[in-house]
Amino acid sequence: MINNIVVVGSGVMGRGIAYVAAVGGFQTTLYDTNEKALENAQRELYLIFDKGLARGKMTAEQVEVAKSKLFFASQVKEAAGDADLVIEAVPEKAEIKRVVFESLEEIVPEQCLFATNTSTMSPTEIGSYGKRPEKTIAMHFFNPVHKMPLVEIVRGLETSDETAQAIREVAEKMGKETVVINEFPGFVTSRISALVGNEAFYMLQEGLGTPEEIDKAIKLGLNYPMGPFELVDLVGLDARLNNLKYLHEKLGEKYRPAPLLEQYVKAGRLGRKSGKGVYDYSVKEKEVATK
Ligand SMILES: NC(=O)c1ccc[n+]([C@@H]2O[C@H](COP(=O)([O-])OP(=O)(O)OC[C@H]3O[C@@H](n4cnc5c(N)ncnc54)[C@H](O)[C@@H]3O)[C@@H](O)[C@H]2O)c1
Repeated sequence: MINNIVVVGSGVMGRGIAYVAAVGGFQTTLYDTNEKALENAQRELYLIFDKGLARGKMTAEQVEVAKSKLFFASQVKEAAGDADLVIEAVPEKAEIKRVVFESLEEIVPEQCLFATNTSTMSPTEIGSYGKRPEKTIAMHFFNPVHKMPLVEIVRGLETSDETAQAIREVAEKMGKETVVINEFPGFVTSRISALVGNEAFYMLQEGLGTPEEIDKAIKLGLNYPMGPFELVDLVGLDARLNNLKYLHEKLGEKYRPAPLLEQYVKAGRLGRKSGKGVYDYSVKEKEVATK
């Protein structure tokens, strides 16, 4: 029975996962080594609660109950000592995820399940970082977590049926639809999304059109809810680049990151979170960022 959820990493995804966990009725602790990130996460989550209340999506009582289930911690022992499920949402780098799972192994109870919110990486490999591969699985949420309906659940080679079923139930309690698939780099969604997003950068680099024109063509011509540049600014250009590097290594040439994307990341244009990505968010309305 899963009651206590610990979310590791309070960035773009971790804070959203903590929100749906608390609203879903789980005792939820959001843990991050970076105190500033935790403070930002708390502020943003409280804003989402306020908006939900103002728009009539939640009652004052529901907000109070959810808030009372949400804790913030910068010490891992305090956060994870009685966890039933850990959901990891640290950056998409094997060496960072390895350290997280190795150190959690020393702290969490024996029955605790490990989930990773990786976009692309192998849950089998991540399962080998700890000592419980049968209890390890990928739980791939989408951005923004409180609005997107799907959790893509990806089983590793050793993941047990019990773990997959328990995780499906947790996601449903968080109000999400699920698909359960077997692992392959990039799963279903990231493989397609990375290809489309990368191709858009190649088009921009080749001078096909402005970001606004390319976004408009994709939205209205192909019926996508967001253009590829609007989406990458939300996802984070650095996160997208990390995904592409991993897929390029595993699946070959068609995933080679566009040089323009690499250049933007080098320049610190990471998207909405840094105030500027393909578009500029430092002004009131988003504008195409000029060099
Ligand atoms: N951004 C997206 O749209 C998106 C969508 C789906 C999945 N993902 C995946 O989610 C994961 C997190 O991505 P993000 O965009 O939220 O990253 P982010 O950079 O916004 O946040 C990562 C957080 O992890 C914290 N962190 C780093 N090392 C840590 C450690 N050892 N212990 C605790 N906290 C630590 C950082 O301080 C930071 O707050 C990645 O694997 C990414 O591929 C991202």
